[in-house]
Amino acid sequence: MSLIKTPKEIESLKRGGVILSTALSDAMRACVVGASTEDIDRIARESMERAGAKPSFLGYRIDPSDPAYPSTLCISINDEVVHAPATPARIIKEGDVVGLDIGAWFEGLTTDMAATVMVGEVKPEEKELVLETRRALEKALTVVRNGAYIAEIGAAIGDYLEPFGFGIVRDLVGHGVGHAVHEEPQIPNFRDPRAPKVIMQTGMVLAIEPMVALGSWKIYQKNDGWTLAMRDGSTAAHWEVTVAVTDDGYDLITPWPDASNP
Ligand code: MF3
Ligand code: CO
Repeated sequence: MSLIKTPKEIESLKRGGVILSTALSDAMRACVVGASTEDIDRIARESMERAGAKPSFLGYRIDPSDPAYPSTLCISINDEVVHAPATPARIIKEGDVVGLDIGAWFEGLTTDMAATVMVGEVKPEEKELVLETRRALEKALTVVRNGAYIAEIGAAIGDYLEPFGFGIVRDLVGHGVGHAVHEEPQIPNFRDPRAPKVIMQTGMVLAIEPMVALGSWKIYQKNDGWTLAMRDGSTAAHWEVTVAVTDDGYDLITPWPDASNP
């Protein structure tokens, strides 16, 4: 299916994006000391289902050889960067840095977004990591427009974060989204000399998602077959929005979450 969405499809994506952002905000507010990740997951699922949307990660396989993804949210805590499933046994603790990632189908199309929540008092460097990762995503959005190179997104994120000395995860990318959870093009989050020379076009729908850690950029997969975590155990942050490329910029498909933290 086409990577260029019609104006009608973009209207559907926007309606779905509002529902998704509300579900994410509800999950962020539920992310408090003592909550189980399963509780937070249920709150997010019920929020989107009330509005007529369906989880897009639940049952998903990134690769056909993967097990089906078991939850609505990815809830990745501290050194985990993405794709940690929600489970009843995992309880949120004071000082946790919690990445919440969510996708939803609505009117036949899917959107994708993520935010990182700081639970109570976190270390000052963790707060800086979370806030600057969000700011790096905001910087990335300023380069989005018809005719720009996809690679400019990674360059903007990499250049903005460079002075902080954080590790930007290299083996995971942002992506096209809409007819499927993951579509072309791949969107690196750093200045990648090997980045393909893909040009943004009006109507492309992109999920842009810097994944950044306090230490090295290297990751590994945990034994659950899903969770990706930092090899050096350092804390990681993740922010993501879905946007549609326009002639002179972008349309935000998933409004920023209204939950106040951070
Ligand atoms: N937002 C996630 C990403 O772009 C999608 C997770 S799919 C899941 O990688 F199956 F891992 F949940
Ligand atoms: Co994504």
